[in-house]
Amino acid sequence: MTTPPVCDYEGSDYQTSFWDQGGRQYEDRAEAIALKQLLPARGRLLLELGAGAGRNTSRYAGYERIVLLDYSRTQLQQARARLGDSSRYVYVAADIYKIPLVDELFDGATMIRTLHHMADALGALTQVRRVLSPGAIFILEYANKLNVKAILRYWLGKQSWSPFSLEPVEFAALNFDFHPRATKQWLEKLGFHVEKTLTVSHFRIGFLKRRLPAGLLAALDGLLQPSGALFQLSPSVFVRASLGNTPPNKSTIPPLDVNVLDYFRCPACGDHPLQNRNEYLLCTGCGKKWAVRDGIYDFREALE
Ligand SMILES: C[S@@+](CC[C@H](N)C(=O)[O-])C[C@H]1O[C@@H](n2cnc3c(N)ncnc32)[C@H](O)[C@@H]1O
Repeated sequence: MTTPPVCDYEGSDYQTSFWDQGGRQYEDRAEAIALKQLLPARGRLLLELGAGAGRNTSRYAGYERIVLLDYSRTQLQQARARLGDSSRYVYVAADIYKIPLVDELFDGATMIRTLHHMADALGALTQVRRVLSPGAIFILEYANKLNVKAILRYWLGKQSWSPFSLEPVEFAALNFDFHPRATKQWLEKLGFHVEKTLTVSHFRIGFLKRRLPAGLLAALDGLLQPSGALFQLSPSVFVRASLGNTPPNKSTIPPLDVNVLDYFRCPACGDHPLQNRNEYLLCTGCGKKWAVRDGIYDFREALE
């Protein structure tokens, strides 16, 4: 199966340069406020797609176990250094287009600042849909092409692409902005019901960020976020979508004492279960071996 190229963060200092030293306390706090509004109080098993260095993971405290999935092993190593080894966290290196997890496994999923690397957004969302159980909650953040700055630049002739058209815009290699209506249409096509939409990072303007404290800007952002129900003109949009109206049926989500290895399926042929050979997982369907190294289940490329 051919899948789109991956924006590879292997070896990247993204967490340090973009967040810790990149002057983005305001955006981080604004996202925390949005997540608090959207996350259910409790859940069993959450899939964090494009988890990166685990910046948001501790915010998912209501869930009993969290599977952090990211294509970058080094991002996951940073997440593991931050969160530690326990039965609460499972680290999985894999491509979102080939999620190595069985169908209908999770009652929750989040995908924050990750859809914007997807050349085939609908294909990626289709994979997410596959691993969610009926009634599951999906919290999706996407970069909004219909933001005020893009609209002004377009009207002033400083930007060639239209923020009003539905197709995604690739503003840098493997970096995409999406139209809110297109994103909603994809989710609905996959059977999601969009329950809540929040606009986030309204004040992503250097001038304001230099002059006002991050906490104050984030609090003001929090007041504006609910306006996302009416219109979306901010650079970042968070949606809470559910699969059907009934709450997840907990009996379909494996209890925590189920072996984590039962979560996996072969990303190459889809076979399940995989056999545990300690240093690797063996797929008896196609014979591929998937490494287990340094606490990370690695499904990027097979050992042989
Ligand atoms: C901008 S970072 C966001 C990390 C984290 N969600 C956050 O908000 O701090 C995007 C993450 O998506 C991951 N990613 C990009 N394409 C991916 C793919 N096809 N499969 C899995 N992860 C991917 C990258 O490795 C990176 O860690």
